[in-house]
Amino acid sequence: MPMPCKTLYIAEQTAWKPKEWRPFVIVSCAISLDGKLASACGDVRLSSFDDKVEVHKLRSMVDAILVGINTILRDNPHLTVSEKYYRSDNHPIRVVLDSRCRIPLDAEVITRRPEVRTIVATTRLAPKEKIEKLKRRGVDVVVMGNSKVDLKKLLRYLRDEYNVKILMVEGGGYVLGSFFREGLVDYLRVSITPVLFGDGEAVSMIRGAVFCKIEDSPKLRLEKIEICGHNVILHFAVSS
Ligand SMILES: NC(=O)c1ccc[n+]([C@@H]2O[C@H](COP(=O)([O-])OP(=O)(O)OC[C@H]3O[C@@H](n4cnc5c(N)ncnc54)[C@H](OP(=O)(O)O)[C@@H]3O)[C@@H](O)[C@H]2O)c1
Repeated sequence: MPMPCKTLYIAEQTAWKPKEWRPFVIVSCAISLDGKLASACGDVRLSSFDDKVEVHKLRSMVDAILVGINTILRDNPHLTVSEKYYRSDNHPIRVVLDSRCRIPLDAEVITRRPEVRTIVATTRLAPKEKIEKLKRRGVDVVVMGNSKVDLKKLLRYLRDEYNVKILMVEGGGYVLGSFFREGLVDYLRVSITPVLFGDGEAVSMIRGAVFCKIEDSPKLRLEKIEICGHNVILHFAVSS
Protein backbone atom coordinates (compact mmCIF):
# COMPACT_ATOMS: atom_id res chain seq x y z
CA MET A 1 0.00 0.00 0.00
CA PRO A 2 1.56 3.36 -0.95
CA MET A 3 1.91 5.79 1.95
CA PRO A 4 1.07 9.41 1.16
CA CYS A 5 4.15 11.58 1.10
CA LYS A 6 4.58 13.75 4.17
CA THR A 7 5.01 17.49 3.58
CA LEU A 8 7.61 19.05 5.88
CA TYR A 9 7.69 22.54 4.41
CA ILE A 10 5.59 24.45 1.93
CA ALA A 11 5.95 27.98 0.51
CA GLU A 12 4.16 29.90 -2.22
CA GLN A 13 3.56 27.61 -5.22
CA THR A 14 4.34 28.53 -8.83
CA ALA A 15 1.51 28.14 -11.33
CA TRP A 16 2.48 25.64 -14.03
CA LYS A 17 1.72 27.97 -16.92
CA PRO A 18 3.24 27.53 -20.39
CA LYS A 19 5.42 30.36 -21.70
CA GLU A 20 4.36 32.39 -24.70
CA TRP A 21 6.48 30.35 -27.11
CA ARG A 22 7.22 27.06 -25.31
CA PRO A 23 5.81 24.57 -22.79
CA PHE A 24 6.32 24.90 -19.03
CA VAL A 25 9.33 22.67 -18.34
CA ILE A 26 9.55 20.47 -15.24
CA VAL A 27 12.72 18.52 -14.47
CA SER A 28 12.07 15.41 -12.40
CA CYS A 29 14.95 13.18 -11.37
CA ALA A 30 16.26 11.00 -8.55
CA ILE A 31 19.79 11.42 -7.23
CA SER A 32 22.10 9.91 -4.64
CA LEU A 33 23.04 12.17 -1.74
CA ASP A 34 26.23 13.03 -3.67
CA GLY A 35 24.30 14.22 -6.71
CA LYS A 36 24.52 11.23 -9.07
CA LEU A 37 21.72 9.99 -11.36
CA ALA A 38 23.29 6.55 -11.72
CA SER A 39 26.19 4.69 -10.11
CA ALA A 40 29.43 3.70 -11.86
CA CYS A 41 27.91 0.31 -12.75
CA GLY A 42 24.61 1.82 -13.87
CA ASP A 43 22.54 1.23 -10.75
CA VAL A 44 19.54 3.58 -10.86
CA ARG A 45 17.34 2.00 -8.20
CA LEU A 46 17.07 5.24 -6.26
CA SER A 47 13.36 5.86 -5.81
CA SER A 48 11.21 4.23 -3.15
CA PHE A 49 7.82 2.79 -4.12
CA ASP A 50 6.09 5.86 -2.63
CA ASP A 51 8.29 8.20 -4.64
CA LYS A 52 7.57 6.25 -7.84
CA VAL A 53 3.84 6.59 -7.19
CA GLU A 54 4.31 10.38 -7.15
CA VAL A 55 6.47 10.36 -10.29
CA HIS A 56 3.95 8.28 -12.23
CA LYS A 57 1.12 10.52 -11.00
CA LEU A 58 3.14 13.48 -12.28
CA ARG A 59 3.66 11.72 -15.63
CA SER A 60 -0.12 11.41 -15.95
CA MET A 61 -0.47 15.20 -15.46
CA VAL A 62 1.97 16.35 -18.15
CA ASP A 63 1.61 16.43 -21.93
CA ALA A 64 5.02 15.06 -22.84
CA ILE A 65 8.03 13.43 -21.23
CA LEU A 66 11.57 13.74 -22.61
CA VAL A 67 14.84 11.81 -22.17
CA GLY A 68 18.21 11.55 -23.94
CA ILE A 69 19.29 8.62 -26.11
CA ASN A 70 21.85 7.38 -23.55
CA THR A 71 19.02 6.81 -21.08
CA ILE A 72 17.14 4.78 -23.69
CA LEU A 73 20.23 2.71 -24.54
CA ARG A 74 21.14 2.18 -20.88
CA ASP A 75 17.77 1.58 -19.19
CA ASN A 76 15.29 0.96 -22.03
CA PRO A 77 12.41 2.70 -20.19
CA HIS A 78 8.87 2.67 -21.62
CA LEU A 79 8.08 6.14 -20.19
CA THR A 80 4.34 5.58 -19.84
CA VAL A 81 2.30 5.69 -16.64
CA SER A 82 2.73 2.27 -15.06
CA GLU A 83 -0.32 0.67 -13.42
CA LYS A 84 2.02 -0.77 -10.83
CA TYR A 85 2.37 2.72 -9.36
CA TYR A 86 -0.59 4.76 -10.57
CA ARG A 87 -3.67 4.03 -12.65
CA SER A 88 -4.35 6.50 -15.42
CA ASP A 89 -5.34 6.49 -19.07
CA ASN A 90 -3.39 9.72 -19.63
CA HIS A 91 -0.06 8.77 -21.07
CA PRO A 92 2.18 11.64 -22.14
CA ILE A 93 3.80 11.83 -25.56
CA ARG A 94 7.34 10.39 -25.38
CA VAL A 95 10.22 12.43 -26.78
CA VAL A 96 13.79 11.17 -27.26
CA LEU A 97 16.78 13.42 -28.10
CA ASP A 98 18.81 11.34 -30.52
CA SER A 99 21.09 13.28 -32.93
CA ARG A 100 22.11 10.23 -34.95
CA CYS A 101 18.96 8.08 -34.66
CA ARG A 102 20.74 5.39 -32.64
CA ILE A 103 17.50 4.31 -31.02
CA PRO A 104 16.91 0.54 -31.49
CA LEU A 105 13.74 -0.30 -33.41
CA ASP A 106 12.70 -2.61 -30.57
CA ALA A 107 13.18 0.00 -27.80
CA GLU A 108 10.37 -0.08 -25.22
CA VAL A 109 9.40 3.54 -26.03
CA ILE A 110 8.53 2.28 -29.53
CA THR A 111 7.06 -1.14 -28.85
CA ARG A 112 5.28 -0.68 -25.49
CA ARG A 113 1.86 0.97 -25.84
CA PRO A 114 2.27 1.84 -29.54
CA GLU A 115 -0.95 3.88 -29.31
CA VAL A 116 1.04 6.44 -27.27
CA ARG A 117 2.93 8.74 -29.59
CA THR A 118 6.75 8.68 -29.63
CA ILE A 119 8.79 11.46 -31.20
CA VAL A 120 12.48 11.04 -32.00
CA ALA A 121 14.07 14.49 -32.24
CA THR A 122 17.16 14.16 -34.39
CA THR A 123 19.60 16.17 -36.55
CA ARG A 124 21.05 16.24 -40.06
CA LEU A 125 23.52 13.55 -38.89
CA ALA A 126 20.78 10.89 -38.86
CA PRO A 127 20.90 8.30 -41.67
CA LYS A 128 17.86 8.71 -43.96
CA GLU A 129 17.20 4.93 -44.04
CA LYS A 130 16.93 4.79 -40.24
CA ILE A 131 14.53 7.72 -40.24
CA GLU A 132 12.34 5.86 -42.75
CA LYS A 133 12.46 2.65 -40.68
CA LEU A 134 11.37 4.54 -37.58
CA LYS A 135 8.54 6.22 -39.44
CA ARG A 136 7.34 2.82 -40.68
CA ARG A 137 7.12 1.74 -37.02
CA GLY A 138 4.81 4.68 -36.33
CA VAL A 139 7.46 6.93 -34.77
CA ASP A 140 7.34 10.66 -35.55
CA VAL A 141 10.83 11.82 -36.50
CA VAL A 142 11.67 15.52 -36.48
CA VAL A 143 14.98 16.97 -37.69
CA MET A 144 15.97 19.90 -35.45
CA GLY A 145 19.60 20.97 -35.71
CA ASN A 146 22.96 20.12 -37.24
CA SER A 147 24.84 18.03 -34.67
CA LYS A 148 22.81 18.23 -31.43
CA VAL A 149 19.07 18.68 -31.15
CA ASP A 150 18.18 22.38 -31.04
CA LEU A 151 16.15 22.52 -27.83
CA LYS A 152 14.53 25.91 -28.36
CA LYS A 153 13.30 24.91 -31.82
CA LEU A 154 12.07 21.60 -30.46
CA LEU A 155 10.16 23.19 -27.57
CA ARG A 156 8.44 25.65 -29.88
CA TYR A 157 7.59 22.80 -32.25
CA LEU A 158 6.17 20.62 -29.46
CA ARG A 159 3.98 23.50 -28.36
CA ASP A 160 2.82 24.49 -31.86
CA GLU A 161 2.40 21.07 -33.47
CA TYR A 162 1.53 18.78 -30.54
CA ASN A 163 -0.09 21.27 -28.18
CA VAL A 164 2.39 20.36 -25.41
CA LYS A 165 1.78 22.79 -22.56
CA ILE A 166 3.69 20.98 -19.82
CA LEU A 167 6.84 19.00 -20.58
CA MET A 168 8.58 16.78 -18.04
CA VAL A 169 12.30 16.18 -18.59
CA GLU A 170 13.61 13.10 -16.77
CA GLY A 171 17.26 12.99 -17.79
CA GLY A 172 19.92 11.90 -18.05
CA GLY A 173 22.77 14.18 -17.06
CA TYR A 174 23.63 15.64 -20.48
CA VAL A 175 20.01 16.43 -21.20
CA LEU A 176 19.51 18.11 -17.82
CA GLY A 177 22.79 20.00 -18.36
CA SER A 178 21.55 21.31 -21.73
CA PHE A 179 18.15 22.37 -20.41
CA PHE A 180 19.66 24.22 -17.42
CA ARG A 181 22.47 25.77 -19.51
CA GLU A 182 19.94 27.15 -21.98
CA GLY A 183 17.70 28.51 -19.22
CA LEU A 184 14.80 26.28 -20.24
CA VAL A 185 13.79 24.86 -16.83
CA ASP A 186 10.88 26.30 -14.86
CA TYR A 187 10.47 23.76 -12.06
CA LEU A 188 12.69 21.13 -10.47
CA ARG A 189 11.52 18.10 -8.50
CA VAL A 190 14.54 16.26 -7.18
CA SER A 191 14.26 13.11 -5.15
CA ILE A 192 17.28 12.55 -2.88
CA THR A 193 18.14 9.02 -1.83
CA PRO A 194 20.28 8.41 1.24
CA VAL A 195 23.08 6.56 -0.59
CA LEU A 196 26.52 7.63 -1.85
CA PHE A 197 27.73 6.58 -5.31
CA GLY A 198 31.16 8.25 -5.46
CA ASP A 199 32.62 9.04 -8.87
CA GLY A 200 34.32 6.75 -11.44
CA GLU A 201 31.75 6.41 -14.22
CA ALA A 202 28.85 7.56 -12.02
CA VAL A 203 26.51 9.96 -13.86
CA SER A 204 26.28 13.49 -12.43
CA MET A 205 22.91 15.21 -12.37
CA ILE A 206 24.30 18.01 -14.57
CA ARG A 207 26.75 17.14 -17.35
CA GLY A 208 28.18 19.25 -20.17
CA ALA A 209 27.39 22.52 -18.37
CA VAL A 210 29.54 24.64 -16.06
CA PHE A 211 28.23 27.31 -13.69
CA CYS A 212 31.50 28.66 -12.40
CA LYS A 213 30.37 31.26 -9.90
CA ILE A 214 27.43 30.96 -7.56
CA GLU A 215 25.76 33.86 -9.33
CA ASP A 216 26.02 31.96 -12.65
CA SER A 217 23.87 29.11 -11.32
CA PRO A 218 20.20 28.90 -12.29
CA LYS A 219 18.18 30.47 -9.47
CA LEU A 220 16.34 27.89 -7.40
CA ARG A 221 13.61 28.98 -4.97
CA LEU A 222 12.56 26.22 -2.55
CA GLU A 223 8.79 25.63 -2.66
CA LYS A 224 8.28 22.33 -0.88
CA ILE A 225 10.03 19.57 1.07
CA GLU A 226 8.44 16.12 1.30
CA ILE A 227 9.36 12.71 2.63
CA CYS A 228 8.26 9.85 0.35
CA GLY A 229 9.38 6.49 1.73
CA HIS A 230 13.16 6.73 2.08
CA ASN A 231 13.39 9.73 -0.28
CA VAL A 232 13.54 13.42 0.57
CA ILE A 233 11.88 15.38 -2.23
CA LEU A 234 12.84 18.98 -2.88
CA HIS A 235 10.69 21.14 -5.17
CA PHE A 236 12.08 24.37 -6.61
CA ALA A 237 10.82 27.15 -8.85
CA VAL A 238 13.65 27.82 -11.31
CA SER A 239 14.69 30.96 -13.15
CA SER A 240 17.87 31.83 -15.06
N1 LIG B 1 18.10 8.89 -11.61
C1 LIG B 1 17.34 9.41 -12.55
O1 LIG B 1 16.32 10.09 -12.26
C2 LIG B 1 17.70 9.20 -14.00
C3 LIG B 1 16.83 9.66 -15.00
C4 LIG B 1 17.22 9.49 -16.33
C5 LIG B 1 18.43 8.89 -16.64
N2 LIG B 1 19.24 8.45 -15.66
C6 LIG B 1 20.56 7.84 -15.97
O2 LIG B 1 21.33 8.77 -16.72
C7 LIG B 1 22.26 8.05 -17.52
C8 LIG B 1 22.28 8.62 -18.92
O3 LIG B 1 22.65 9.99 -18.85
P1 LIG B 1 23.69 10.63 -19.85
O4 LIG B 1 24.11 11.93 -19.30
O5 LIG B 1 24.78 9.63 -20.15
O6 LIG B 1 22.89 10.79 -21.21
P2 LIG B 1 21.44 11.35 -21.58
O7 LIG B 1 21.30 12.71 -21.02
O8 LIG B 1 20.40 10.34 -21.29
O9 LIG B 1 21.56 11.43 -23.18
C9 LIG B 1 22.47 12.37 -23.72
C10 LIG B 1 22.57 12.21 -25.21
O10 LIG B 1 21.41 12.74 -25.87
C11 LIG B 1 21.80 13.22 -27.13
N3 LIG B 1 21.40 14.61 -27.33
C12 LIG B 1 20.93 15.11 -28.51
N4 LIG B 1 20.69 16.40 -28.41
C13 LIG B 1 21.02 16.78 -27.16
C14 LIG B 1 20.99 18.01 -26.50
N5 LIG B 1 20.56 19.16 -27.08
N6 LIG B 1 21.41 18.05 -25.22
C15 LIG B 1 21.83 16.93 -24.59
N7 LIG B 1 21.87 15.71 -25.17
C16 LIG B 1 21.47 15.64 -26.47
C17 LIG B 1 23.32 13.12 -27.21
O11 LIG B 1 23.67 11.92 -27.87
P3 LIG B 1 23.78 11.91 -29.47
O12 LIG B 1 24.79 12.95 -29.82
O13 LIG B 1 24.13 10.53 -29.85
O14 LIG B 1 22.42 12.28 -29.94
C18 LIG B 1 23.71 13.02 -25.76
O15 LIG B 1 24.96 12.38 -25.56
C19 LIG B 1 21.83 6.59 -17.50
O16 LIG B 1 22.74 5.87 -16.68
C20 LIG B 1 20.46 6.63 -16.85
O17 LIG B 1 20.24 5.48 -16.08
C21 LIG B 1 18.90 8.57 -14.34
